[in-house]
Amino acid sequence: MLQGKTVVVTGAASGIGAATAALAAEHGARVISVDVNTPQRSVGRFVRADLSDKASIDRLVAELPPGLDGLANIAGLPPTRAAASVLTVNLVGLKYLTTQLVPKLSDGASIVNLASLAGLEWAQSLDAIRASESLDFDGVEAFCSRFGIEGARSYFFSKEALIAWTMQHRWTWRARGIRMNAVSPGPVDTPILPDFIQTLGARAEEDMRTMDRPGTPDDIAPVVAFLLSNGSRWIRGTNVPVDGGMHSNILCQIHGL
Ligand SMILES: NC(=O)c1ccc[n+]([C@@H]2O[C@H](COP(=O)([O-])OP(=O)(O)OC[C@H]3O[C@@H](n4cnc5c(N)ncnc54)[C@H](O)[C@@H]3O)[C@@H](O)[C@H]2O)c1
Repeated sequence: MLQGKTVVVTGAASGIGAATAALAAEHGARVISVDVNTPQRSVGRFVRADLSDKASIDRLVAELPPGLDGLANIAGLPPTRAAASVLTVNLVGLKYLTTQLVPKLSDGASIVNLASLAGLEWAQSLDAIRASESLDFDGVEAFCSRFGIEGARSYFFSKEALIAWTMQHRWTWRARGIRMNAVSPGPVDTPILPDFIQTLGARAEEDMRTMDRPGTPDDIAPVVAFLLSNGSRWIRGTNVPVDGGMHSNILCQIHGL
């Protein structure tokens, strides 16, 4: 599915990123694994980078070769971490890496952003989403104060804004055939699942009762791999829920279906 392609996978040291890097390699891709932590089992070439740090991203971009066919933006921090750190890694760093890397992407390349079911209600945060369009590393603390983003809200907002940003860039690089899409998992059994359950409390317990089971990284990686492949070339700016039906369940409840 990815034969001959070179793909960059961030967050490749753990969970969904590790599963995606392994699956992409299995499907014939040359994988460049990126993470702030060292993977236990490295897939392809490993480049260490801290996506909360602009200078580290600049070094990463300088080190990566031209002719990249895919970028899977999977690195992320959970809602239990400091609000400014979460927003920096999950949104600001991700967007900066992506835009800096575009000149090194091949024509026809695919960008896949790991969002979340937590971003479902993005349409209710439009003012903050618009304001986040110009958000830079230095402005994150002030941005959080201005919009009252504290605690776990930062995680939710980072994913809402990421889904919106993905849609906004449906055609930005269309002339070069470069497309961007998002994948939104429900609860997935990775090292950060307990953080979600702790943060969401009773709501998470209710969600887990409603679901037949939590997802696994192997439920998510094939969808990311498909979006990186040529088979998805006419899918642009979309958000694909991969959540055992939770997204539809919530929409049916909201709309009384
Ligand atoms: N697990 C879930 O329930 C779930 C649900 C929806 C969305 N997601 C999203 O999926 C993505 C992957 O999460 P996961 O569940 O595999 O978690 P994980 O903790 O297993 O993996 C996240 C990876 O990101 C890396 N990372 C964190 N900060 C970084 C930084 N500053 N620079 C570089 N790398 C950094 C970590 O080292 C880790 O390897 C995240 O964006 C997360 O928000 C997860």
